[in-house]
Amino acid sequence: MNWTAITKKTVTSFIASCSIIVALQAAAPAAAGQSAPPNPLPNADAQSANSAEQDWWKNAVLYEIYPRSFQDSNGDGIGDLNGITQRLDYLKKLGVDAIWLSPVYPSPQVDFGYDISDYKNIDPQYGTLADFDRLIAEANKRHIRILMDMVMNHTSDKHEWFIQSRSSRTNPYRDWYMWHDGKGQTAADKGEPPNNWQSDFGHSAWEWDEKTRQYYYHKFYIQQPDVNWDNPKIHEAFKDIVGFWLKRGVGGFRFDAITTLFEDPEMRDEDVLLDKDGKSYRNDYGDIALNDTRTNNLPGTHPVMQEFRAFSDTFNSPKFPGTRVLIGETYLPNIAELAKQYGPLGKPEFHLPMDTQVGFINKLDVAQFRAKLNDVETAIDGNIPLLVFDNHDNPRLDARYGDGVHDADIQRVISTMLFANRGTALFYYGDEIGMKTTPPTRKEDVKDPVGLTGWPKDKGRDGERTPMQWDSGSNAGFTKAGVAPWLPVPPTYTTVNVKAEESDPNSLFAWYQSLIRLKKTNPAFAHGDNVMLDTANTKVLSWMRQAAGAPSIVVSVNFTAEPQTVSLSVPGAAGKLKTLLKTPGGSDPASLGQIQLAAFGVYIGQVK
Ligand code: NOJ
Repeated sequence: MNWTAITKKTVTSFIASCSIIVALQAAAPAAAGQSAPPNPLPNADAQSANSAEQDWWKNAVLYEIYPRSFQDSNGDGIGDLNGITQRLDYLKKLGVDAIWLSPVYPSPQVDFGYDISDYKNIDPQYGTLADFDRLIAEANKRHIRILMDMVMNHTSDKHEWFIQSRSSRTNPYRDWYMWHDGKGQTAADKGEPPNNWQSDFGHSAWEWDEKTRQYYYHKFYIQQPDVNWDNPKIHEAFKDIVGFWLKRGVGGFRFDAITTLFEDPEMRDEDVLLDKDGKSYRNDYGDIALNDTRTNNLPGTHPVMQEFRAFSDTFNSPKFPGTRVLIGETYLPNIAELAKQYGPLGKPEFHLPMDTQVGFINKLDVAQFRAKLNDVETAIDGNIPLLVFDNHDNPRLDARYGDGVHDADIQRVISTMLFANRGTALFYYGDEIGMKTTPPTRKEDVKDPVGLTGWPKDKGRDGERTPMQWDSGSNAGFTKAGVAPWLPVPPTYTTVNVKAEESDPNSLFAWYQSLIRLKKTNPAFAHGDNVMLDTANTKVLSWMRQAAGAPSIVVSVNFTAEPQTVSLSVPGAAGKLKTLLKTPGGSDPASLGQIQLAAFGVYIGQVK
């Protein structure tokens, strides 16, 4: 099986035909989705295919699927693996290289799969191991890789390890988790929790366990006890799990909550956060707001990731060739911390730690985007950035960037930032059609427990996890008519759906498809450096993609609701432009000195 046989010929012939948006939309399927050549490759091509296998992740398009919500194939109202398999052609058409599956392992589903009770199986709600193998095989045929979510910070409290661990203080699994006596604990009194650490989902991170009379630590829900990474047996147990899935052919992993593996060994209290008046305050869960320096981003994670990278780099097989990519869920305070996640020289860690600093600015502020994009270009030692603007834990793009009037245009702006900058791009199912955040309106409808703790200030994450909107028919094509989907289909499905947008050349879907094709096929776009242009402008963000031997590309993005004109200058260029892509209604500029943009308009042109 040959996953990513994108030959140079395919790319060159595509570029020749790729001039403007119309050409982009009418052209052959995206390079990423080309079928594998039927015969063995001649030597030169075999070599380039081999390096394509190794480098597949460097300019890749990754798509997050929340399996519960993507496609239900068996009519129980819950999405499943066979549903995803049925929709692979759609993802191929979009230009996706790899799918990150949120957890599909057996789980009590308290945190909808992030509480895992068996790491080497598939939850019956989602299918079977045979369904998983078929998904991998069918995805491979389309040159799409499957990435698993790997949750190593905690397990479910129903996992056998924890069941053993909590059964007695002398059980061999006792020190697989984080058990501590309470403060002031006596034979008769459990005392207070060992310190002030809080769960990210509200209230104390310590849970009293009466049977063995100790507290256990949980960074997330009570049902998600943290494992003890100071125990070498945990390292071995997780390598065994990672190896199990690598052998099955997964293309890599997204490591969940990876910055929280370790805690302060001295167990010191977290510092209390102060507001602008110097006073402590309460968060959405009613708790005193705390910093998290004792429980997040401790240095111990680095050697662990070096160990897992070295382990996963040993996997290669003719059946599943190519790099197995390690992605980190890395919410970090600054670019220096992000840079560390790639690992020191000779000791690599993540291939792609998520850069959440660009995508979660959550405000269309030109100066901030310019600064953060510049950081990622200059301060990660030439590594590959992983840009991401959206996922299953945050309100969707409309809620964080939209203005309620120009939301589709603003999504064109955001997706341009995602795909037209250097690096790998990760986006969330439904973004490509403009699905909107649709939170529950009544507390009794909330499914995500954090929404119950935080109601009404924090309504939980149901709003960004609603069923994929495939068409305007019953249940939006997500599940059969007459079945209640696990979360309600948002009312927008009648107009915001795949079927309607696939046939509309001016749709958001068409825009995503065009940007992805450009990213995959234009050399400056695929591998060029990012150089910021017009750097004093506070309304329009402009940059250039520049690669040796390839024509440079300029990109201008209007961050405002008013038309703007920009004048760019590119050293050594005559000033003429050939339009590659522009938002609907935009015009072809006469020159670099006269780029006119409609409200939230985007222009992408090749410099002549
Ligand atoms: C991050 C995941 O994205 C989120 O959904 C989950 O609740 C926590 N980690 C805990 O696993």
